[in-house]
Amino acid sequence: MPEVDKEGKNFHLEIPQKSELFFLKGSNELGWGMKNRMARIFNPKDGHTLMLAFDHGYFQGPTTGLERIDVNILPLVPYVDTLMLTRGILRSIIPPATTKSIVMRASGGPSILKELSNEEIAVSVEESIRMNVSAMAVQVFIGGEYETKSLLNMSKLVNIGTQYGMPTLAVTAVGKDMVRDAKYFRLATRICAEMGAQFVKTYYVEEGFETVTKSCPVPIVIAGGKKRPELDALKMAYKALQEGASGVDMGRNIFQSESPIAMTRAIKAVVHENKKPEEAYEMYQELKNEYN
Ligand code: R5P
Repeated sequence: MPEVDKEGKNFHLEIPQKSELFFLKGSNELGWGMKNRMARIFNPKDGHTLMLAFDHGYFQGPTTGLERIDVNILPLVPYVDTLMLTRGILRSIIPPATTKSIVMRASGGPSILKELSNEEIAVSVEESIRMNVSAMAVQVFIGGEYETKSLLNMSKLVNIGTQYGMPTLAVTAVGKDMVRDAKYFRLATRICAEMGAQFVKTYYVEEGFETVTKSCPVPIVIAGGKKRPELDALKMAYKALQEGASGVDMGRNIFQSESPIAMTRAIKAVVHENKKPEEAYEMYQELKNEYN
């Protein structure tokens, strides 16, 4: 039998219970489970994330730098917040003991030999929960041949994800012949947010990127895009964060770098330690010698 309550308990009557706003923009009205998943992707201390993207194989196969994910990518895992990957790689290569958050690709279908915008939803929310992931990622092709289909794929994931507290990351994919400017990215990111995505991945542009982040009501992370010199990639990450991005979801500029571990650590210093690109580049060069 539990003993009867004694006198003298302290209910701290003078301390009101705190009711805090959630730290990510546009995310305050999400449910507890979804917020908790978002807080595993974005560090609550600074609101930023360093996601390592290596899901390219779902339409490209073993692209340069991803020939052996066990050899090339696993050594980078300790330095990032989140892994963006496919379920096949998660099951076959990533040790289940990892505590990093996972963003799992949930759309797919065509390979690089076909029309890429013709994707379907390829992974269920139940599978995403079974794999204990923190968000599902879907490609959205604004202006692409199958624009409507890709937006409806995204909407369906948002509908089901909302029921289960699973966020959806909309990835804005740009066709080869399309103009990559702030006007296009304002359109693409805003449509994704309006249609319910909890966060959006897009590309950085030199002119007017701040208008993209300001007009998108939910957090934006930037893709790295094609491999460029390390200092340029560090400058891009720095400017994107200064201009309102909440993080970096970088692939080729990390895993195709001459020293992927050094580059991951340098990008981390920009994202979480507010290091200037030149300082981070110095760090990259020192670390490169250490790892080679
Ligand atoms: C592209 O469709 C993939 O989903 C990648 O996640 C994305 O492009 C980011 O990788 P990168 O930094 O190589 O552009």
